[in-house]
Amino acid sequence: MTENPLRLRKIHHVEMWVGDARQAAFFYRNAFGFEQIAYSGLETGCRDSCAFVLAQGQARLVLRSPLVPGTEIGEHIARHGDGVKDIAFHVNDADTTFQAAVANGADAVTEPHDLRDDHGAVRCASIQTYGETVHSIISLGDYDGPFLPGFRAQHLPGNDAGLLRYDHIVGNVELGKMEHWAEWYGKVLGFSRFLQFSDEQISTEYSALMSVVMSDGSYSIKFPINEPAEGRKKSQIEEYLEHYGGPGVQHLAMLTKDIVKTVSHLRDHGVEFLQVPKSYYEELPGRVGEIDEAIEPLAELGILVDRDEEGYLLQIFTNPVVSRPTMFFEIIQRKGSKGFGEGNFKALFEAIEREQSRRGNL
Ligand code: FE2
Repeated sequence: MTENPLRLRKIHHVEMWVGDARQAAFFYRNAFGFEQIAYSGLETGCRDSCAFVLAQGQARLVLRSPLVPGTEIGEHIARHGDGVKDIAFHVNDADTTFQAAVANGADAVTEPHDLRDDHGAVRCASIQTYGETVHSIISLGDYDGPFLPGFRAQHLPGNDAGLLRYDHIVGNVELGKMEHWAEWYGKVLGFSRFLQFSDEQISTEYSALMSVVMSDGSYSIKFPINEPAEGRKKSQIEEYLEHYGGPGVQHLAMLTKDIVKTVSHLRDHGVEFLQVPKSYYEELPGRVGEIDEAIEPLAELGILVDRDEEGYLLQIFTNPVVSRPTMFFEIIQRKGSKGFGEGNFKALFEAIEREQSRRGNL
């Protein structure tokens, strides 16, 4: 394992700004199997916003809403709908990482400062990335609270769906900006280019997109970045940009070690997934060869499979989880493959386009 020069250890949490955090928390607990571990709001002395912290495996998802009119959070929701505001990094030393990032060209959002409560103090700063999305940079020291200072433990059980952690988090950016952001992650955070896909590799009859995957040295933080490409009709990335009102997080990919079990669980709890045609499964054995799983349950659930030199992976995508056709989730199980399902892009994007067409956006 190569150490990231900025000492990013992992994704500490993802924070979404949402219209109603209490109702969103109910949805993610009941549909996705997260448990609630902490809360911040009026009762904890936070007067203008409230936040619920959900956990499953190592993944932490924070849902925050404004409590009064005229807030930055409220304006953000008015522009973008519910969406990811912050992909926060856990680092060894927030000051060092922040200073290095800024010296490498990052725009500062908040300078390093202490956040403190009865459980101790953490050091926190943040930098701007694509659109209005930010990266918080957090060092925890020996802080021993349930989440971060200002949050109180508040436990509500979840029905665990087997989600282990964030596998990768994908950003959609404007036409011509993918290279800019790939370079940004390289220069500012020391990431390297892990994979790159041209518009010929990711195209259907109607539309195309380009993608580059940026990864930290340990391969524990992976950020694919998409941009639309010229096509006969509107690409899914353009649809996103139009409805989100600019660049932002397109999907959160969650790792599982038993995708059949996880997807069955999610489906039983009301999560809707993109469906691929049955013909996909007729071609599957010829395309991926021997796999441990029986094809029938995969076909039944609509789980996709892809193979590369190192192994294979299984993956599936939800429909958008918010009212705008913007953010969705991916569930992924890796069996040796470090890829992103390149072999599935065509089948998948045709499925997305059928949905886009139903929305009058193709
Ligand atoms: Fe993905």
